[in-house]
Amino acid sequence: MTPIAQEVTIHLDQRSYRIVIGSGLLSAPSVYAGLPGANAAVIVSNSTVGPLYAATLRSALVAHYSEIHEVLLPDGEEHKNWQTLQSIFDVLLDRGCDRKTIVFALGGGVVGDMAGFAAASYMRGIPFVQVPTTLLAQVDSSVGGKTGINHPLGKNMIGAFYQPQRVVCDLGVLGTLPVREFSAGLAEVIKYGPIADMAFLGWLELHMDDLLARRERALSHAVQRSCEIKADVVGQDERESGLRAILNFGHTFGHAIEAGMGYGVWLHGEGVGAGMVMAAELSHRLGLVDAAFVKRLTVLIERAGLPTQGPVLDAQDNAGRYLELMRLDKKSEAGEIRFVVIDGPGRAAVRPAPDSLVRQVIDACCA
Ligand code: NAD
Ligand code: GLY
Repeated sequence: MTPIAQEVTIHLDQRSYRIVIGSGLLSAPSVYAGLPGANAAVIVSNSTVGPLYAATLRSALVAHYSEIHEVLLPDGEEHKNWQTLQSIFDVLLDRGCDRKTIVFALGGGVVGDMAGFAAASYMRGIPFVQVPTTLLAQVDSSVGGKTGINHPLGKNMIGAFYQPQRVVCDLGVLGTLPVREFSAGLAEVIKYGPIADMAFLGWLELHMDDLLARRERALSHAVQRSCEIKADVVGQDERESGLRAILNFGHTFGHAIEAGMGYGVWLHGEGVGAGMVMAAELSHRLGLVDAAFVKRLTVLIERAGLPTQGPVLDAQDNAGRYLELMRLDKKSEAGEIRFVVIDGPGRAAVRPAPDSLVRQVIDACCA
């Protein structure tokens, strides 16, 4: 039986694809029909998600592929590197995988980014499907084709734009996600409100308790609306020549927090939570939104179980340390930091800001 599912299409000419959202999708063979023909499928997952869900996914894929291989990566952002990527290539080559082999990325953003990059580069590109299992991955990282790994000198610095053939968001798997990871995913859901859709922000205010209780109807709407907004932005600017940067609202401050604390101490979504408050405060001090808007966003971020204040990264010169880290941001141009600001509720823009003002924001928003 085909489970009831919602669909969002991401329009990218020949690279267009569907995002399928619903419960029980992992084990439904019909969800995987119509993908490029292949003899072999390779499920790439990790040591946490694989034991929970790889067998269920495999039970659906046997209807379509005569061989199914598995690669289980070590779990954790610290393993998002060349060595782990190499271990995917090792299995693909060892099992004689050809250009028609299809990869299924089963996991959160770390697995999705790495399996996607492996698919982008193995034999110069083989098809892949995203099967995201974290809220963050379902609403953000599995959609839009950014793939890659970290370099010791910077996060996500090596990678490729490479679109999946399909994204399968099974809401049922979110039931096993740890509370802290679930809240981290909510940060990426919340960001879509201030940058693109104030009605969605209002809906989130009404339904935050339902989301925290992981009620399916609320999850379904949150994932669908997030994917619609992301699909719309990526459909206009696939390779981030401009507009797509608005999806990084809160991330400039957030990445500085992640790097400054040491990767893994603050989760990505936690950095984005506090980072959105800082970016909203900067927008306010630039005269773009009123104080009530900043307060409203801060309250919602707090209700989602996320930090609303940044950590102190340097007791001597905290703002200086943030500025130093933010200059490494991929949006920086000739050493000038460019911030995603709210240019009126529901509308974002990317612009520089005077260091003196950014220092005031950091002083006001860190504890
Ligand atoms: P993650 O992939 O590390 O997953 C978080 C934790 O949850 C891991 O321990 C994982 O094993 C576990 N997990 C995953 N699914 C589970 C489930 N259903 N039940 C129980 N445990 C489960 O982290 P994430 O937040 O999903 O992704 C963060 C990564 O995504 C970062 O590397 C970030 O750079 C990247 N990212 C990429 C994009 C993009 O556009 N490509 C966008 C945002 C973030
Ligand atoms: N997560 C930001 C982007 O996909 O562009």
